[in-house]
Amino acid sequence: MAVYTLSEYPKQLEAADDSVIIIEPLRPENRDALLEFFLRVPEDDRYYLKEDVTSPKVVGEWIDNMDYSRALPLIAQEDGRIVADGTLHRRRAGARSHLAEIRIVVDPDYRNKGVGRALMRELISIAEDSGLEKVIFELVADEQDDAKAAASALGFVQLSVVPNHIKDVRGRLHDLLIMELPLGKWRQWWNY
Ligand SMILES: CC(C)(COP(=O)(O)OP(=O)(O)OC[C@H]1O[C@@H](n2cnc3c(N)ncnc32)[C@H](O)[C@@H]1OP(=O)(O)O)[C@@H](O)C(=O)NCCC(=O)NCCS
Repeated sequence: MAVYTLSEYPKQLEAADDSVIIIEPLRPENRDALLEFFLRVPEDDRYYLKEDVTSPKVVGEWIDNMDYSRALPLIAQEDGRIVADGTLHRRRAGARSHLAEIRIVVDPDYRNKGVGRALMRELISIAEDSGLEKVIFELVADEQDDAKAAASALGFVQLSVVPNHIKDVRGRLHDLLIMELPLGKWRQWWNY
């Protein structure tokens, strides 16, 4: 079982517009700020998330049962306001224990400033440092093009397409894209 080293947090990130953003693991006292953050995320974006993030019960259960070996949440904050949330999800079962999935959401007011990329880089570094072999990123074709661009900019490549897997609010079907980033040489590649 991979162990995460989190001693370097909190970390400061200088975003593209000089705002000072702090990245650190989610803590129980962030419960209300996290709910407020998800309420600021547009409904269209929330619709594609895997859980009902505006439900106090759902968010409360995450916080009360926090288990980094299953889901490690990192948050980005400015002046105590959460502006992005990214998680590294693991499966404990043996056959999938070498990989992790990244999920990420950025406050619309803070998009295109490098916050999403910074948070994804942190999660990838944590995964790499803990000996994981690859990271997966799932997204909805046509509806999450920004996410595809962000993942591609970090070196993710498209692995497969699950046709017509996702239904939008109007009942139209969209492909699910699965992207992957092999670890091990990722940091060398990134620093090159
Ligand atoms: C995807 C998402 C997390 C990106 O966050 P972000 O903070 O805006 O992304 P960044 O500013 O760090 O951009 C990273 C890279 O992505 C690309 N990118 C991001 N937004 C883009 C856009 N609107 N158009 C084109 N490229 C874009 C760029 O290549 C950028 O690299 P650059 O800084 O060298 O230009 C954000 O749009 C979001 O929260 N979307 C809704 C939720 C979602 O789709 N999550 C993914 C599935 S879990």
